[in-house]
Order: sequence, then C-alpha cells, then structure tokens
Amino acid sequence: MTVIAVIGSQWGDEGKGKVVDFLAERADYVARFNGGNNAGHTVINEFGTFKIHLVPSGIFAQNTVGLIGGGVVIDPAVLIEEVEMLNKAGVGVDGRLWISPRSHLIMPYHKILDGLYEEAKGAGATGTTRRGIGPVFADKVSYNGIRWTDFTSDMFEKRLATQLELKNKIIAALGGEVLKYEAVRDEYRGYYLKIKPYIKELFSLVQDGLKADKTFLLEQAMGTFLDTDWGTYPFVTASTTIPSAASAGLGIPPKYIQNVVGVTKAYTTRVGAGPLPTEIHDTDSEVYKKFGEVAATTGRIRRVGWLDLEIVKTAAQLSGMTEICLTKLDVLSGLEEIKVCTRYELSCDPVRYADVDAYGLDKVETVYETVPGWSEDISKAKSFEELPVNAQKYVQMIEDAAGVPVKWIGVGPEREATIRR
Ligand code: GDP
Ligand code: IMO
Ligand code: MG
Repeated sequence: MTVIAVIGSQWGDEGKGKVVDFLAERADYVARFNGGNNAGHTVINEFGTFKIHLVPSGIFAQNTVGLIGGGVVIDPAVLIEEVEMLNKAGVGVDGRLWISPRSHLIMPYHKILDGLYEEAKGAGATGTTRRGIGPVFADKVSYNGIRWTDFTSDMFEKRLATQLELKNKIIAALGGEVLKYEAVRDEYRGYYLKIKPYIKELFSLVQDGLKADKTFLLEQAMGTFLDTDWGTYPFVTASTTIPSAASAGLGIPPKYIQNVVGVTKAYTTRVGAGPLPTEIHDTDSEVYKKFGEVAATTGRIRRVGWLDLEIVKTAAQLSGMTEICLTKLDVLSGLEEIKVCTRYELSCDPVRYADVDAYGLDKVETVYETVPGWSEDISKAKSFEELPVNAQKYVQMIEDAAGVPVKWIGVGPEREATIRR
C-alpha cells in the first residue's frame, strides 16, 4: 500500500490544493483528516477554478473516492454548498464521497464564541477565520461536542439542549445574542437529512483499502506551524497538522504513513496574528507587491516574507518529509536579488525554531543569504533543465537545507504548471 501525506511546510496556503489535485490521478482514496472549513484550497483544472474548504481537493480525479475523516470538523451549510457546487460543475461526487459519523459539527454557538473571544482579546487576538474552529475543538476534547452519529437517535436533541443552556449563558455574559433551541434544532436536522447519504463509518473501508494495497492521498489542512503543539502557540489553529494527525483523524496506523510530501512555497506567507520572522513590512516595495495574495477563505490580505529555511528544515524534521513540492517559483521571476533566511541567532548565538516560543521568535535575528535572481518568465517551463541556472540553484539550496529532494516545482497555479523532476 502507498499512503502519501501532503503537508504544508509553513503557515498554510502553500498550495496544497493544487498539489493534491495533480497527485490524485494515481490515488484510490483522497482524504482530509484535520481542521475544518477554515481551510481554503485552490484548485485550477479542466473543471474550472475552485476554492475548496472541506471536500478533498483530489475529488476531481474521477477514479478516486473522497473521505472526510473523524478528525475534521464540519460546518454543514458549507459542506452542502460545496457538494452542490462540485456536482453543478460536473465533478460528480455522489457515491464517491464519504464522511465519518465521528466528525464533529460546527454549531452556531461555536462561530459566535469564536468572534466574542477574538474581540475580548483585542490586540492579543489570534486573527482566526471566525469559522468556530477553536470552540468546536474545545468542545470535542471536553466531551461537549455534537457528532453526526448523534442524529441517528434523540441524542442530538438532548446534547443540543444541554449545550445551549451552557453556551447561551456564556454568550449573554459576553454581550452576544443568545440562540433559540427550536431554530437550531430544525436547522441542523435539515442539514442532517441532506448530508445523510454521504455519512458512512470509514473503519472497514480504510482497513480493507490498506489490505488491498490501495493508494491513499492524505490532504492536510493548515500548515506545520499552525499545529497546536508545534506551531507558534497561541497563534495557531486548534488541530494537529503534522502527519501523525492522519492516524487519529482517519484510522490509518502510523507505520503506513511512509511518504510525506512537504508543500513548500518559494517565499513565506501567513494570515492572522503571530510571528513571521522574515516578514516584509514595506508595503510599497516591489517584492511585497509580487508576493501579495488574498486569503482563499476570508479574503484577507496575506502577510508576506522571504523564504525561511529554518522553518522548512524544522517542518521536514517534524513530518519525516520524504519529498518536497516547491510551489510558486514563477513568482520570484524578475527579482534581481532574492533574500533567503538560512538560520536564526539570538544574542549572536545560533538558535533553532524549537528553542524559542512565539514571543521569542519575534526577537530572533534572521540571518540572510542574498542570491541572484532571474529575469526569464518560467511559467511555461516543462523540465528542471529549462529553468534558468539561478532558479535551479535556488531549488538546490532548498533541498540541501531541508535534506529532502525537491521532486516537483510549481511554475503557475494551474494543474499542468508543474515540473516533475
Ligand atoms: P492551500 O491552502 O495550501 O491549498 O493554498 P491556497 O490555495 O490557499 O493558496 C495558494 C495560492 O497559490 C493559490 O492562489 C494557488 O492557485 C496558487 N498557486 C499554487 N501553486 C502555484 C504555483 O506554482 N505558482 C503560482 N503562481 N501560483 C500557485
Ligand atoms: P489552509 O488549509 C492559512 C490561521 C488563521 C489564524 C489561525 C487560527 O488553506 O492552508 P482558526 O480559524 O483556525 O482558529 O485560525 O490559523 N489559519 C490559516 N492560515 N491557511 C489556512 O488553511 C488556515 N487555517 C487557519 O488565519 O491565524
Ligand atoms: Mg489556503
């Protein structure tokens, strides 16, 4: 069996959607295992341009089966809209998309609380997507969650009544608008009826697939440094994002996860608050304008920075990365010089990412190497050899630092704009 985990090496938005889309042609199963609809994965292929939040980005490959594991949290309205959108685009997901009954639901109070907590924190806010992610995972691990399986009995009504009693008190205390039981119950019963045909326990399907030597492509949401434990806490997301999360979030024993593709952007971006050691602050600079992106989920402007090799190297170590897919190399074209952070120092001593916390990371000195850029448009390049020598050297510098081969290079947002090495 081949189990391939696709992991973002930075702070999310590395281009995981595109990579999963092009790797899916050789996958039997494509699966999401963590996070929720805080994710926004862009896919551009023969079906059109999509920003996907919940359905695995590999669903466009017609022979694949999409799985949403129990580790994923789901806003049902977002899921229904996404499924309808994909069906309308001719992707045809019915009969090949399965959702674990163990997955937790994002309830209206999770979204309200997410907003209220952010506002209460003021300048110390995380800058969340306000999709209810922190509160729903908090409920999951404190035994207060609501899962799809609860709808098969009156457990949903019972649990909702208890939760509303608790949550309305908190919402009222924080000055928010309380929720009405009947309205939430009817709304969510309605969602369940629509999603029911897609709900199926994944245990046997996954176990049988592993036994039958099937290929699983596991699509991480968020990035390595938004991981609750290994990210820049408290400026992180509420789920484990490193490959081990796929074990709990899908029921795949860890020993099977042998291929880890690290999706690495040729520069760095981050949305929301928290340290970004190589951040470029000059909003008038050519490079700021070049690197600029709009977030796929919230429409916010992404913060940008130079490539940080300490971050990529740490991600490679944490995830046991076996290959790198370098994305957005084309964006660097036209820069005369490119800065790359090769390591950190604190009081003139070398320091690793893991040695400092999020506040310490804001204080580290980033040591840069400046390398020559290239002027050629590389968006049509089909082979590594076709790339300008300086672009080739940039790629080699990344693999040397990470100790992991760069197997694919993205030279444009479309599926075909990918060089295989
Ligand atoms: P994800 O969350 O990791 O799937 O990434 P996003 O979709 O949020 O952000 C990545 C952005 O980069 C999207 O706009 C993609 O279309 C775009 N993209 C991905 N790979 C490439 C590439 O190699 N070159 C260019 N120019 N754009 C890319
Ligand atoms: P993809 O899968 C980039 C960030 C938010 C915020 C922090 C916590 O598209 O790469 P949350 O709503 O999760 O509680 O917010 O995490 N964040 C992301 N940043 N890409 C994402 O997903 C993200 N998902 C969450 O901006 O800083
Ligand atoms: Mg994204």
